[in-house]
Formats: sequence, C-alpha cells, structure tokens
Amino acid sequence: MNWRKLRTFLLTVLVLCLIPAMRYNQIDLPLLHYFAGSRKVDPLSLHLAGEFVESNLGTEQDGDGSVTVRMIAQQYLFVPHCVVVPAGVPVHLRITSADAVHALAINGTAYDVKVLPGTISEAQLQFSTPGEYKTMCREFCGAGHYAMRSELKVVPPDQFPALQTGERGSCVAQ
Ligand code: CUA
Repeated sequence: MNWRKLRTFLLTVLVLCLIPAMRYNQIDLPLLHYFAGSRKVDPLSLHLAGEFVESNLGTEQDGDGSVTVRMIAQQYLFVPHCVVVPAGVPVHLRITSADAVHALAINGTAYDVKVLPGTISEAQLQFSTPGEYKTMCREFCGAGHYAMRSELKVVPPDQFPALQTGERGSCVAQ
C-alpha cells in the first residue's frame, strides 16, 4: 500500500466533503420550499384572497409580545411601503412576491431575504434599538430594480400603537 497516495486520496475526499458542508447555508431556502411545494401561495390572486390580502399586510401583534410583519414584493415596490415594528421584540417576517424574484435587504443589518413568487419566505428579525432603516431590493428584477426601495421604522415598544384584534400597524398610523 502506498501511504502517500492514500493520504492524498483521503485529504482530497475530506476537502470535497468540506466544500458542500460549508456552502450548504448558501442554498436558497425559498427555492427549496418552492420545489418542495411547501408554503405555497398563488402569486396571481395575492390581493384577492388569503394571507396576503391588503388588509392583512403590515404589522400584527402576536399574543406573546412578538409581532408578525406581512409584505408583498412586486415590480417595483414593497407593500406596505413603510413598516413599523417595536424595538426589542422578535419580528416574524412573512413575505412573498407577486411576480419576479426579489430580495428584501435592510440597510445596515445582515438581513437579506430572498423572495420568490409562489412561496412564502420567512425570516426572524429583531432590532435592539429604535431607528429608521432604508430597505431595498437586492436581486435584479427588471428595469425598475434600482428604484425598488422602502422603509422600516423601529420605534420604542411603548410608542408602538396598541393594535386592536385584526388591526395592522403601518407608518401611516404613526
Ligand atoms: Cu425587486 Cu430588484
């Protein structure tokens, strides 16, 4: 047995295993959901029925103190255009696309959520301090891609409006 050759072989196998192991997190989860058929949503009837009708978009208070934000990405805007969330609580983001592939990126943070039509992207966000963030689309989606921007306002928890059941928060209510 040639130990040198065996060593080279084993090292090669190790490296070949390490590369996919390190890159695994770069596989698009929404893409996996899309092909798995889970979190399905019909991009053509988003505004008409289901979770993403207009009255259901924006920030909703959950019973446990956290909030859920629902948004639609479409050429070339995010709906709602401005979202308000309280600081210091978990923010569950649920977003889908009405047309192309988009990505919601929040400036100054590491949050970057890929959005595909036909499936719901989920992300867990949290902001420790109040502030205003510019958000933008970070996936080329057509001629208006560079103008696809919106806003996220993080307010102190006591300034976040106490929402009634079924009510959704937005910047307009501020
Ligand atoms: Cu939407 Cu780029």
